[in-house]
Amino acid sequence: MSSAINQPEPSPLVACTISRDVTTFDLLIEDMEAAVGEAWGDLGFPEALAFLRQLDAEMLEFIAIAIDDEDEDRLPIIGDIIELAGQLGIKVILIADDVSPTALHTLLRQGADEFVPYPLPEGELQAAIDRLRQPAEPAAPSTNIAANAAGQKGALLAVHGLAGGTGATTLAVNLAWELASISKDKAPRVCVIDLGLQFGSVATCLDLPRREAVFEMWSDTETMDEDIFKQALVSYQDRLWVLTAPPEMLPLDMITSEDVNKVLDLACGHFDYVIVDMPATLVQWTEAVLTAAQIYFMTMEMDMRSAQNTLRLKRALQAEDLPVEKLRFCMNRAPKFTDLNGKARVKRMAESLEIGIELQLPDGGKAVSQGTDHGLPLANSAPKNPLRKEIAKLAASLHALGAASAAAV
Ligand SMILES: Nc1ncnc2c1ncn2[C@@H]1O[C@H](COP(=O)(O)OP(=O)(O)OP(=O)(O)O)[C@@H](O)[C@H]1O
Ligand SMILES: [Mg+2]
Repeated sequence: MSSAINQPEPSPLVACTISRDVTTFDLLIEDMEAAVGEAWGDLGFPEALAFLRQLDAEMLEFIAIAIDDEDEDRLPIIGDIIELAGQLGIKVILIADDVSPTALHTLLRQGADEFVPYPLPEGELQAAIDRLRQPAEPAAPSTNIAANAAGQKGALLAVHGLAGGTGATTLAVNLAWELASISKDKAPRVCVIDLGLQFGSVATCLDLPRREAVFEMWSDTETMDEDIFKQALVSYQDRLWVLTAPPEMLPLDMITSEDVNKVLDLACGHFDYVIVDMPATLVQWTEAVLTAAQIYFMTMEMDMRSAQNTLRLKRALQAEDLPVEKLRFCMNRAPKFTDLNGKARVKRMAESLEIGIELQLPDGGKAVSQGTDHGLPLANSAPKNPLRKEIAKLAASLHALGAASAAAV
């Protein structure tokens, strides 16, 4: 690494990292050295703008902007850097550690070319650089994850309630429906899997039958194959595929991690998005789902139950060394935007629990449970409902993220 600013002309630099402090991204330093040797510099955000405005910046091949959750208030300047790079024909790789989907979405829309999560998966920075170096191809036929169907697996998103009734199933079902209807002609293929083998209520929310084939599938996963899996699915309006809970209640420990992995693997092989509704209880196979998922949403409310369960859950996961960084805490029935007191309470709760609460879902009133009782997703029963709007936004940012990062997520 060399100091980009002091580089004598002509600059031998081909790349630059831009971050608040590159030493917080030590894996990036290693990977940059592996990728371009010494031919890269490192800049902070304000200097980066000044540097890019210099002529010799045009010689840069790419910049790697590394951000974490502390940088979310710097989005405007980061956006300016991305736009300026775009004008100069310099490619932008975004490296993000624990950044909210909304922030990522904004930056990707401003023109970042590639997205890689941090900690960097092995070889992923090099893969992103290789993709940048490929000559521009004609527009891909579709912008959804299916466009990367060259053996690409669908994204697995799980939803788990930190306490009963905190809206896990509502989020799972409506997120799935919003994703399935995100585009008229290029809609991604979406599947919901209800792993609430006892009280799972996805079938009720969409007014679908619970088929015996589901029970048969779970009771004999040894012989399960693609056909058996497909036969156990039912469709909602031919657009969303659902593996409901079985008709009879099953003990949660009747199935094993292996069974769950097999089903998730088949599902991700067939669908662009697989959304899993988890039972509130921690079971032996919770770990399997957490490990396989890209994002694990945990729904909660502003109450003692949710607060205490969060602490207990965090302790349980950390004791087992499980990937807690995949958790996305989601405050349901969150205070309104205008309720400043309420907002401050959410912030205090997050601080005292030492978690980030990245998603806040508003109270949608009676219309929400009424829609559920009629077996309809909110988009169909109450399209203007504030809860629906927020879930639609979430779907849009996840989808935008998926489109740009299918290879990396
Ligand atoms: N933001 C909201 N606004 C209004 N009603 C909501 C909201 N979120 C959930 N509900 C309602 O609260 C009830 C419980 O929601 P839901 O079944 O999604 O929770 P859950 O976490 O899946 O519960 P369980 O522990 O039973 O699985 C439902 O009647 C649902 O319609
Ligand atoms: Mg539920």
